[in-house]
This record gives sequence, structure tokens and C-alpha cells, in this order.
Amino acid sequence: DKGSYRHFMAKEIAEQPEVVGHTLARYIDMAAGRIRLPHGSDFDFSKLDRLAISACGTAYYAGLVARYWFEKFARLPVDIDIASEFRYREPPLVPGSLAILISQSGETADTLATLRHCKAQGMKIGAVVNVPTSTIAREADVVFPTVAGVEVGVASTKAFTCQLATLAALAIKAGRDRKVLSETDEAKLVSSLIELPRLMVEALHLESEIERLAPVFAKADDVLYLGRGTSFPIALEGALKLKEISYIHAEGYAAGELKHGPIALVDENVPVVVLAPFDPLFEKTASNMQEVAARGGKIVLLTDEEGAAHAGETLATIVLPKAFAFVSPLLYAVPIQLLAYHTAVFMGTDVDQPRNLAKSVTVE
Ligand code: M6R
Repeated sequence: DKGSYRHFMAKEIAEQPEVVGHTLARYIDMAAGRIRLPHGSDFDFSKLDRLAISACGTAYYAGLVARYWFEKFARLPVDIDIASEFRYREPPLVPGSLAILISQSGETADTLATLRHCKAQGMKIGAVVNVPTSTIAREADVVFPTVAGVEVGVASTKAFTCQLATLAALAIKAGRDRKVLSETDEAKLVSSLIELPRLMVEALHLESEIERLAPVFAKADDVLYLGRGTSFPIALEGALKLKEISYIHAEGYAAGELKHGPIALVDENVPVVVLAPFDPLFEKTASNMQEVAARGGKIVLLTDEEGAAHAGETLATIVLPKAFAFVSPLLYAVPIQLLAYHTAVFMGTDVDQPRNLAKSVTVE
């Protein structure tokens, strides 16, 4: 039921503070301010040498963000590849080590094939899934559930942020198990997660501001999304969302890669979405932004108040609430979803059932 919303996608975007909150409640002992994995989903990360992550599409981008977290908070090296490539790479897999598969539906053929491949090599299988009765959930050794509820829109939105919330909790747990994070570190990270749903509500209030950009994007043939650090996978996700539902060609790039090629595309007809919270990476991304501006590119900057104060000329600056750098990927997911959604609505495409796409891809 869409309720008062025009599309399931709009409803699912709006539900994020609530379902991310539900997901976090499964992974956080609120009274203690610590991570507590759901009953039956406990896992000890202390003895691992490596972690393998694999998934497809949006779920893969959640995995890319998680790699930064596991490596930073738990000093755990992460191998990650899209599920349709993972097996063909023939990565040396260590029996007894952990593979985490991420899937909303739990039925994606490539992800399932990767699960079986890893299992056959003697790996332990963890599954971050939204459908608890799915094949991937059933075949995994340990299930890390997301609590997004049913996602109808083909373009994944709330499942993505719930995957990120789950992976964030797992990375903190790994950091504790591996004695990289102190109790104080853990408490700080956990409190930034607890605060997140409220910040997501604030981000949703930016909707009308973002909607005003739709006519500009609807006219574009190409759109670039740039980000550094954990904003890089969100740039990839922003480009995927726009492609899927508006059919506009879009690419996400690590901001530092701009001058290694894609800057050749930039002219006054190319909107460039820059994801840059005011964190230690901001200055570098801002200088990439200047390079875009110098070539007439239309910059839409997603940042916070401090970033806005340090930014030069832009077509639009969308000011998000200030957040810990750790949670910014979940927060910045909201405006990129809204931007794709309103561009598609403005163009009149079938937002919930985009052409050529299926909600769950069950062939390899
Ligand atoms: O159900 P899954 O999470 O395994 O699906 C993976 C991808 O097919 C999915 O994320 C796809 O990329 C979406 N259409 C993204 O919006």
C-alpha cells in the first residue's frame, strides 16, 4: 500500500529514519550504548585474518562502504568484489574465514552462487539479508537481518540504508572483538548511530529544495557524481539510482580520478553532483570541484554548513545536518535518492517499475 505517496519509492525513501531505527535497535543495546548482535546472529571477529564481501548492484555499494569501516575500526583486511566476478577471480580463500554476502531479496543468483562457492571452500558464511526466509538466508551459517520491511520499488532505497546500518554495527563489533576500539570509542560510534534517524528526518526536509533541481537534471545527457572516502560508494549509488529510473547516463567517480579521464566530459551541459561533508577529505574534493567549475560544469554540492561556507560558486548547495563522518554515507544516501526520484517523476518515467529491470535478478 502506497498510502498517501505517489510511488512506492517515495514512501520507501521517507520510511528510512524509521526502518534504519528498527534495524539499529536489533544491533544496539540502547541502555548500555554498545553493540549487541541479534539473538542467534552472534559472531566473533577476533580470529579472522581477512574478510570477504560480495554482492550485486546497490548491495555491493553497501559492501564498498563497509570495507572502509571494517578496515578502519577493526583493522580487518577486506576483499570485495561484485558477485558475478568474485568466483572468476579465483581469490585464494581461507577455510574458516568469513564471507559476508549482502542481498535485499536473498535470491540474487550471482550472490547465491558466490555463497555456494565460498561455502565449498570451507568458509563461514554471513548473510546481510532483508528477507529472512530467502535462499541466501537459509544457506548462510549466520544471518545478519536488516529490518527494512518489504521493499517494492525496483530501485533499492531503504534496503540500502538498512544494509549500511547493519554493516556499521558489525564493523564496530569487529573492532571491539579485535581490541582495536576501546569502550569509549565504541560508545562514541554507537551514539552517532543512535542519532542518525533524527538526522535522516532533517535530510528528508530538503526534498523541495532537491525537487527544484529536477528540470536541470532532466535536460542532461550525462551526469557525474563525485565523492572521496566513504562518499565514493555513495557517488556510485547516486549514479546508479539516476540511471535506473530516469534513464539518464550517469557515472560515479572517486573525486581524485576526475583528472585521470572523466573531466574530459565536463562542459556547461553536465551537472556534477559533489558529495562532500566537511571532513578531513573536504579540501581535496573542493579543489576537484574548482576544476569542474573552471570548465563550466554545473555543480550541485551536497555538504554541511561548514562545507557550504568553504565552497566556491555552485549551481546549488544542499546543506545537510552536521554528522559524524562515520555515519555520513547513510545520511548522504537520502538526497541522492530524492534527486533521482524527482528527476524521474519530472520526466514521467515509471519510477517503481523502470524498463528492463526486475526487483530480483534470479539468473546469472
Ligand atoms: O536483492 P539484492 O539486494 O541481492 O539485489 C541486488 C541488485 O540487483 C539490486 O541492488 C539492484 O542493483 C537494484 N535495482 C538497485 O536499485
